[in-house]
Amino acid sequence: MGAVHARTIAPSPLVDVVAVADTDTAAAAAVAGEIGASPCTTTDHLLETEADGWLIATPTVTHPALVREALAAGVHVLCEKPLSLDVADSAALGSEALAAGKVLQVGFWRRFSPPWAAAKRLIDAGAIGRPLMVRLSQWDADPPPASFCDPKTSGGLAIDCGVHEFDLAEWFTGATVKKVTAFNLPLVDESLADVGDVDNLVAVLEMGDGVVATVDLSRNCRYEDDVRTEILGEQGAIFVDFLPTGRTRLATAAGVEVVPGSETDDAFGAGIRAQAEAFARAVAGEDVDIPLEAASTRAVATGRAIQQAAESGPVDL
Ligand SMILES: NC(=O)c1ccc[n+]([C@@H]2O[C@H](COP(=O)([O-])OP(=O)(O)OC[C@H]3O[C@@H](n4cnc5c(N)ncnc54)[C@H](O)[C@@H]3O)[C@@H](O)[C@H]2O)c1
Repeated sequence: MGAVHARTIAPSPLVDVVAVADTDTAAAAAVAGEIGASPCTTTDHLLETEADGWLIATPTVTHPALVREALAAGVHVLCEKPLSLDVADSAALGSEALAAGKVLQVGFWRRFSPPWAAAKRLIDAGAIGRPLMVRLSQWDADPPPASFCDPKTSGGLAIDCGVHEFDLAEWFTGATVKKVTAFNLPLVDESLADVGDVDNLVAVLEMGDGVVATVDLSRNCRYEDDVRTEILGEQGAIFVDFLPTGRTRLATAAGVEVVPGSETDDAFGAGIRAQAEAFARAVAGEDVDIPLEAASTRAVATGRAIQQAAESGPVDL
């Protein structure tokens, strides 16, 4: 993921990628060489570059220590999701960033991708009235190795994949998750049993004001990694597609139309780049709407509740 970020952001006129760091020397050198940046293998080495911000895309369990190292050195942070697998520690990181006066943005890239950004603009403009229901799907083609899926290191399906969807549910509706019910589906990749993860789950999120979101996550759709979002409001619906191209459709009594400006062949790349550009603007002191610690903390709390609910029934947050 770090390599994807580096390659995608490098051409941006708003961000100067000065260095690429990885504890794996060859990995750092390969990506840095591709984009004309300095390779680094230690954070001390990285600090010598005097970069204004770090984009942290290391394994999730390493995020808290690296975020703290950056903040202590006066460096702004754009951290991959989730910030921390521990809810209390995640909240503590937010307080520490505030005290340090540094930006701590979380990598919820969908918010910056044209199809989802267009959906949000439509909702805020009242195009479908009050949102009542959201359906969110993230279906991956194939599972990563069981060692990656291990809930202790990545958070497992409910957190590693789910946090994007839980964040969208709250971002689109303006309501917070109050109660969850969840179902793990029959295991497809048996090796996941060894680490205690699952490859398919369905969750119902009861939100404030009676709004309901349903989330379904899969690691075995086989065709391609896919994401779909549908929002039903009082006066119509919004459909966000990722494949075969990113686009947003608005469906109201006037008909169904593709929303101008929402279409992109690369909804992922466009989101990754716009996310980093929003970070650069925030670091420069602009008032930018970016996902902060609280969004990650709530999403991880929802993921934890889903893991518990799948085992023992509905859980209140
Ligand atoms: N937003 C998204 O859609 C998305 C997609 C994939 C991954 N991610 C996130 O990105 C992060 C990385 O995931 P990945 O799949 O790329 O993992 P990965 O294991 O494939 O790669 C991690 C890299 O970090 C390096 N590394 C490990 N510890 C390090 C340290 N202390 N300092 C510097 N480098 C270190 C490793 O050598 C490796 O090159 C995770 O937090 C994951 O949740 C987000």
